[in-house]
Amino acid sequence: MNMQRIETKSGNFNMNNYGETYQNFNWDEAKSNFSWHTTGKVNIAYEAIDRHAENPDKADQTALIYSAPDREEKLTFTDLKQSSNQFANVLKKHGVEKEDRVFLFMPRSPEFYAAFLGILKVGAIAGPLFEAFMEQAVRDRLEDSEASMLVTTPDLLERVPFNDLPHLKKVVLVGESDQKGEAYIDYHAEMKEASKSFDVEWVDLEDGMLLHYTSGSTGKPKGVYHVHNAMLQHYQTGKWVLDLKEDDIYWCTADPGWVTGTSYGIFAPWLNGVTNLVRGGRFSPEQWYETLQEKEVTVWYSAPTAFRKLMSAGEDIVKEYNLTNLRHVLSVGEPLNPEVIAWGMSALELRIHDTWWMTETGGQLICNFPALDMKPGSMGKPFPGIVASIIDNEGNELPPNQMGNLAIKAPWPSMMRAIWKRPEKYESYFLNGWYISGDSAYKDEEGYFWFQGRLDDVINTSGERVGPFEVESKLIEHPAVSEAGVIGKPDPERGEIIKAFITLNDGYSESEELLEEIRQFVKKGLSAHAAPRELEVKDTIPKTRSGKIMRRLLKSWELGLPTGDVSTLEE
Ligand code: WT7
Repeated sequence: MNMQRIETKSGNFNMNNYGETYQNFNWDEAKSNFSWHTTGKVNIAYEAIDRHAENPDKADQTALIYSAPDREEKLTFTDLKQSSNQFANVLKKHGVEKEDRVFLFMPRSPEFYAAFLGILKVGAIAGPLFEAFMEQAVRDRLEDSEASMLVTTPDLLERVPFNDLPHLKKVVLVGESDQKGEAYIDYHAEMKEASKSFDVEWVDLEDGMLLHYTSGSTGKPKGVYHVHNAMLQHYQTGKWVLDLKEDDIYWCTADPGWVTGTSYGIFAPWLNGVTNLVRGGRFSPEQWYETLQEKEVTVWYSAPTAFRKLMSAGEDIVKEYNLTNLRHVLSVGEPLNPEVIAWGMSALELRIHDTWWMTETGGQLICNFPALDMKPGSMGKPFPGIVASIIDNEGNELPPNQMGNLAIKAPWPSMMRAIWKRPEKYESYFLNGWYISGDSAYKDEEGYFWFQGRLDDVINTSGERVGPFEVESKLIEHPAVSEAGVIGKPDPERGEIIKAFITLNDGYSESEELLEEIRQFVKKGLSAHAAPRELEVKDTIPKTRSGKIMRRLLKSWELGLPTGDVSTLEE
């Protein structure tokens, strides 16, 4: 097999005229697929679910297959329409209004999806939080968004500092609980009482529907604000990149606490009327292969870190399963190594299609389409209607093969419309009409894009984005820690791991126990994925004269690289 180039296969999108379609594609063409095109009445949840439930040919099709070790359930489009209506009625009853922020902090479950869709149906803004978040992470997000309601489970409630959050009025509890009183709503009891009919709140295409918090190199996590109009991109990329067809069984492995789990774990499949598989429980190679086999998955969207784990479990295991239904595999979140693509060709007998995008972009932008010749290691080409380029720091386009800022001509349908309450932060993303991704890349003569790295200090560990500042802030809350500097250190399986350099306060001396205690402190405060895997005690942490931690220098030391310009280093 020639790994330099892997040939096309057919798909919904005809790549023979990629160039032509690229030139001519207009997002207006996508509009005719939605009911608001004729009715003028907009709501993304209506388009994703109710539109199919009202179509006699689709009403009884399975929309959601939920599969967890202790629970198996199938819900049709009609079931989801009704359960989300019930939840919308519960929200209305408790005074939730258009544009209110309603957050979700719970594992994936049928209740989660009914609640998420119900929130959108009342015109409120949903804020899904990853279930592994600990108190500080939950607090930061609820505080910043001024969420008025939270949907969670009795188990997770202890990580919610309810009394310190003045805007948070009510908590919906999914599951048996002793918590009683005005502020607590019993999910199951109220759902039982609620009507299955609801008049969907019609909104404007530019009205908000979703807040996803993500990290940058400085400051607390920022709320990336998305609007209903994003459905155009979710739908069209679902059709042309995920290559969804109506009889597909589609599995996206991402949690809806991250943008892949909403854009492609909720909207893209359902807007395309496709059966969506959600798997609860932990990762294990055997159970994942079993899921692919048992559920007859046809299209599968996952991440390099998962593929690498499957790869290290060996090819013999794969042979024990029948994966003949699988026809299309995709990846996102971090660079997809050519070795992983070679493994896919051998173990799955399929190409793994890399896709590039970000929380801020709301949808895929640079992709390997089913029908595009693949160059392993390249992220592919821009989606039709998307103009991507490599620009210098002044906003000028660079010629092929030169490395620079990966930038996208703004706007596009699913682009974020704001950073919550931080207009100056939002503005800082744009230069000369370009959206600046923070990634460096180059484009080859044939128009393929090649990822090179992050230009800021953001860490990508197992596909999860971690801001060094958050980890540093947590570290210095520990009584033993004086200063901290945090970097991403290359790792063959996780992409990067978090490495923290710390100085100790007087009276503390380095020991294995102390370092483990500090690690646990971050894990319990933020989340497991943000806890440093490596901790090193230093005498000083290098800083600029203005007091900024020089993470670049820490990284050069760690990797034994030249230290570059250190003229701003503090004496
Ligand atoms: C950052 C965005 C959008 C879904 C998950 C990540 C990195 C994303 C790729 C890829 C190389 C990638 C970039 C990007 N990234 N996809 N195909 N190849 N790097 O969303 O958490 O907002 O992270 O992930 O560095 O900027 P996110």
